[in-house]
Amino acid sequence: MRVLSGIQPSGKLHLGNYFGAMRQHIKLQNEHNAIYFIADYHALTSIRDKNALKRHVLDVALDYLALGLNPDKTIFFKQSDVPQVTELAWILSTITPMGLLERCHSYKDKIARGLLPCHGIFAYPVLMAADILIYQSELVPVGKDQKQHIEVTRDIAIKFNNIYGKAFKIPDEFTVAGCEVVPGVDGQKMSKSYNNTIGMFEAEKIIKKKVMGIITDSKAVEEAKDPQQSHLFALYALFADKQEKSDMAQKFRAGGLGYGQVKKELFQKIMEYFAPYRTKRQELENNLDYAEQVLADGAKRAQEIAQASMYKVKQAVGIM
Ligand code: ADP
Ligand code: TRP
Repeated sequence: MRVLSGIQPSGKLHLGNYFGAMRQHIKLQNEHNAIYFIADYHALTSIRDKNALKRHVLDVALDYLALGLNPDKTIFFKQSDVPQVTELAWILSTITPMGLLERCHSYKDKIARGLLPCHGIFAYPVLMAADILIYQSELVPVGKDQKQHIEVTRDIAIKFNNIYGKAFKIPDEFTVAGCEVVPGVDGQKMSKSYNNTIGMFEAEKIIKKKVMGIITDSKAVEEAKDPQQSHLFALYALFADKQEKSDMAQKFRAGGLGYGQVKKELFQKIMEYFAPYRTKRQELENNLDYAEQVLADGAKRAQEIAQASMYKVKQAVGIM
């Protein structure tokens, strides 16, 4: 099965990206034909500093490779290295009903978070549909917040196939139950735009500071606490096995447990979990040519698939 996903290089990646998306991406590469890309055309809707964009693209590449993305199994590339995707986005936009885009939550959410309203943000689900359809993707692993965009993609693909004959596969989304939304240090969804993230590859002392600063209620040590109401517990649970989770839940309910103690354990768990990946990332950082070569090879392989799709699409619409 062809699996595809993209991630925006719009800032440092964090635990939400990892548990909500990247971990699944890396797992799926062993069972499927995986294609993953760094969505730099998308990131232009929020980043207007060329050096920052370049640095974020490189960081995403290093993060993925450090976390186990295997370029022998996976096609890994930068979105803009296959510019045909913007050509397809235009063609798809000519059959995309306005109402479909007007119903998308992401536009209003992004404007509410302070992004400047622009056509790119409004039309972004069409570019995302092109990303998915041009590679004839069958399964798209994403976090829950992206589910609506996969539905839009399906609608656009069905409409295109109905008008012009079958050019595209109809993709399914893939979201993993249990860790749909990773909370940030303030209890809201962890997100680059909320200033509440913990990054896997940040300096140890920054991670420590952030973990020790996780906001909690003001219950005293001796009071009983409800683990289900605690985002500190939810973060701990990401790293704990079944037994550790139930022991910790038990300690919450029994009282006598201070939040400071839980934070210390969480910090240790984060550092332990990511230690081998942090070492690997440092090695990659010392040899940037390798990551650049991986992206260049990936772009070549992606282009072959994209070109075949565009040939079909152009023939179908009559601009060959
Ligand atoms: P951000 O909100 O930090 O800008 P993105 O929108 O770039 O993150 O998301 C990249 C991927 O990571 C998407 O598939 C998204 O669903 C997933 N993701 C982001 N934040 C979280 C979170 N807090 N919990 C679960 N998944 C997340
Ligand atoms: N929109 C996704 C996000 O913000 C990134 C993305 C762009 C993507 N194109 C995609 C994800 C295609 C899956 C498939 O996280």
